[in-house]
Amino acid sequence: SICYLNGEYLPLDQARISPLDRGFLFGDGIYEVIPSYGGKLVGFGPHIDRMQEGMALIEIGFDWDHAQWKDLCQQLMAKNGNGNLGIYLHVSRGADTKRYHAYPEGVEPTLFAFTFEIAQPPVADKSKAKGYKVSSTEDLRWRRCHIKSTALLGNVMHFQKGYAEGNNETILYNANNELTEASACNAFIVKNGVVITPPLDTQILPGITRLMLLDILRKYTDIKVEERVVTMKEVAAADEVWITSSSKEVAPVISVDGKAVGTGQIGDVWLKAQKAFEAHRY
Ligand code: PDD
Repeated sequence: SICYLNGEYLPLDQARISPLDRGFLFGDGIYEVIPSYGGKLVGFGPHIDRMQEGMALIEIGFDWDHAQWKDLCQQLMAKNGNGNLGIYLHVSRGADTKRYHAYPEGVEPTLFAFTFEIAQPPVADKSKAKGYKVSSTEDLRWRRCHIKSTALLGNVMHFQKGYAEGNNETILYNANNELTEASACNAFIVKNGVVITPPLDTQILPGITRLMLLDILRKYTDIKVEERVVTMKEVAAADEVWITSSSKEVAPVISVDGKAVGTGQIGDVWLKAQKAFEAHRY
């Protein structure tokens, strides 16, 4: 496939970065994944806003505007066939001349972007949708999870636990037994018809799929939505559990640690929410 590295489009297997790049040595960078279907981007504006906020938070001075980012995404989609593509955007602090923790001065950030194939978004059909199985574990990542940092070892280790247990994801809870999110997704429960998700704070990533879903449920459905603390007791007693991300959209969870969620089947509220999401995603 064709990627982009510091101003140049080139075959992915020919892209080269310095081993002194701080993205490589320190995980010192910010990234995004934007889904696209047939050349149409989903959530482009909020994804770029989040990327710019992340770079500002870690003081990477990289000042592309939305039009420049859009041009990059469109060129990458076109050069890679305009199919169903995830677009990965990555800005690291760049390659210094030495390994030294402090932010260097006068170093150009590295901009790398590539595409990868993603599945067709899930259809609002219980018999065709995939029911996800998840593990759960205490969230042992850092306390700045609102920053979409390229330093993902904490997330990777949590994801691996679920994977090793034969599951598709791992949902996470803090020291107070409160749900935070999943290793690469946001998390939701449904109880008595109400959709509930943990509030935005430094314990979770402000997911764009989460944002769009809440928006769409409030605008286009009569489903009640709450952003509030969710305990793991509530997760265990939930009628439905969902996880959301750019590549999965709204994914129904049918078991947690091998125990069935609700009836163990994909739920009715998911079906309604997925229909609305399908009709109104932007
Ligand atoms: N994961 N929480 C975490 C920790 C994530 O890594 C992600 C995204 C999300 C969902 O955010 P969004 O809806 O904006 O994709 C929540 C991406 C897709 C990844 O790392 O591959």
